[in-house]
Amino acid sequence: MDHKSLVHGMHAFHAEDQGSSPGVTTDDVINEDRQWLAQTYHPLPVVIRSAHGAWVEDVEGRRYLDCLAGYSALNFGHGNERLLAVAREQLERLTMTSRAFYNDKLADFARELAHLARTDLVVPMNTGAEAVETAIKAARAWGYRVKGVSAGKANIIVMDSNFHGRTTTIISFSDDPDAHDDFGPYTPGFRRAVFGDANSVAALVDENTVAVLVEPIQGEAGVIIPPDGFLRRLRELCTANNVLLIADEIQSGLGRTGTTFACDLWGVQPDLRTLGKALGGGIVPVSAVVGTADVLGVLKPGQHGSTFGGNPLAAAIGLEVVRMLAEESHQEHARAMGVLMRENLEKLEAKNMGVSGFSHIGLWAGITIAPRLGTGRQLCEKLLLHGVLAKDTHGSTVRLSPPLTIDEADLAFLFEGLEAAIDDLAVENPAWRGKSHS
Ligand SMILES: Cc1ncc(COP(=O)(O)O)c(C=O)c1O
Repeated sequence: MDHKSLVHGMHAFHAEDQGSSPGVTTDDVINEDRQWLAQTYHPLPVVIRSAHGAWVEDVEGRRYLDCLAGYSALNFGHGNERLLAVAREQLERLTMTSRAFYNDKLADFARELAHLARTDLVVPMNTGAEAVETAIKAARAWGYRVKGVSAGKANIIVMDSNFHGRTTTIISFSDDPDAHDDFGPYTPGFRRAVFGDANSVAALVDENTVAVLVEPIQGEAGVIIPPDGFLRRLRELCTANNVLLIADEIQSGLGRTGTTFACDLWGVQPDLRTLGKALGGGIVPVSAVVGTADVLGVLKPGQHGSTFGGNPLAAAIGLEVVRMLAEESHQEHARAMGVLMRENLEKLEAKNMGVSGFSHIGLWAGITIAPRLGTGRQLCEKLLLHGVLAKDTHGSTVRLSPPLTIDEADLAFLFEGLEAAIDDLAVENPAWRGKSHS
């Protein structure tokens, strides 16, 4: 279908009314992108020009429900008024100091974030990968200086199918060939266990193990929720062996699961937690490691830092994000909308429309499409034609992570779009029903 002819029902939108860039087409921008950018991404063919709440507009005036939300960077929606007000005020007053001096926002941000995470100290950074790198450095330094591991011997246990970012140390322990291959030599000191299987972690622990690094729910892998008891077993295992539990909640944390932190789902308190994405309110990159003083306290002046980490603009926005989460209303709303999301997912699966399974928690879902019907990418391309933005991951999974601010009408729109998109694929591929769905 020619997507130019699409009108998205009650959400129909006219670019002329909103001052779109005249003459700029989707194709123009995509061609320029292909000419000037290293092609490290494979975006869907939509060029976003503006956004508000859960909705975005493209350069040709079409509207879409954003069901990726910047991989959860936009948990509070696009252009969140409360966050914008803080950002505007701070922009006018002070944006950057470096940590060579103090600024009047950072300590407030750190105190309230530490309280929210029920822990002691904060290391502010910018991107998620930097936060993970920071946690790795802190865990190793703790291992040598506190646990007494011999120099250079520390090991950290990670999970299969992990995703923690794109830096060379982090991709060293990735089992995704795209992320990993041809970027060596690799950083040693990591051992990979099976996500969800605490025994496989236990089998790798030795006297030089300083940490277990785990995403409580694996986002990039397709919203993989571990069996109940996994996180708790890891907590017990770590405590019993004097090993740090590091929870990477960069994608799963800050309300996405209907709880403030994903680990809260299982009542687990990690020693270190990495946060990012939504911490910057979708406005600026803000990440952090939060953790206990006995671990983060080992880092001394000159041993770690970042020019922009903890800058006053980031701290002001991060502080407001923390305050919003402390009020609990976004988590509550995510839980309520999450109930509806699950009902809709169950209906969709029951209709046997080519959905071969789904995982779901809070306002987060991974839908697996029967491979004979199409790929996750193809489903996302069809969804685009029905006014929904979503992102495939690992072949046959489509991840749904809309802003936590969506309402019932938005959810209805999403699931109507999903049904229609699946129907489109079935029409193009009528033979699929006759075959096995896997
Ligand atoms: C769990 C997790 N950790 C780390 C990262 C890396 O964050 P960034 O892209 O901000 O470096 C991501 C990004 O998707 C993530 O999902």
